[in-house]
Amino acid sequence: MHAVSTPLPVVILISGGGTNLQAIIDAQQSGALAVDIRAIISNRPDALGLKRAQHAGIPNIVMDHKTFASREAFDRALISKIDSCGAPLVVLAGFMRILTAEFVQHFAGRILNIHPSLLPKHRGLDTHAQALAAHDTEHGASVHFVTTELDGGPVIAQARVPVLAADTAASLQARVREVEHILYPRVLQWYASGRISLKAGRIVFDGKPLDAALRIDT
Ligand code: GRF
Repeated sequence: MHAVSTPLPVVILISGGGTNLQAIIDAQQSGALAVDIRAIISNRPDALGLKRAQHAGIPNIVMDHKTFASREAFDRALISKIDSCGAPLVVLAGFMRILTAEFVQHFAGRILNIHPSLLPKHRGLDTHAQALAAHDTEHGASVHFVTTELDGGPVIAQARVPVLAADTAASLQARVREVEHILYPRVLQWYASGRISLKAGRIVFDGKPLDAALRIDT
């Protein structure tokens, strides 16, 4: 178990705006989240999240997937880069790449992702439009361990929002994004303080198997 007083080294992977990254940086800076962000890696050179990293003085690295011959070659280079940062935890924060089985297995039990739906509902893209099309009355976000099944790994915790009659995909996305920014730092702090782990494919929370995703009040 990671010692509670020592910040947990992490690497954060992004592809875009990085509002979740910002929430993690803010939580770290306010003392609510004991992580040591060793590096932020973006597969897109123009990701706005890189500016957030620079502003916070965190090492930031561009690894443009387009410059690699294959998905396998990119993922192998990414594994080396992350390993060289000495971070036991990989945090996906809007990283829009499907990861190879090799990558996921290398970091088994050590990769977390946030997905904008109440998994197992609405995997993949356009989750807010999916929720509206399904006439859901509730929607939200999930933080889960990453496995080889896309958006299919064990869910640690979820935050919920109502779906309102006048909602568009954009308004729903904005409401979900707000709760993501509360949910992700909170789950990361549980992981960083050794309260959560993945053992034999099952989540263990405070020493006990977790039967259902925890519900975060926001
Ligand atoms: C978030 O909705 C997150 O759930 C999903 O990608 C989006 C990233 O947004 N995985 P941002 O880059 O953190 O603003």
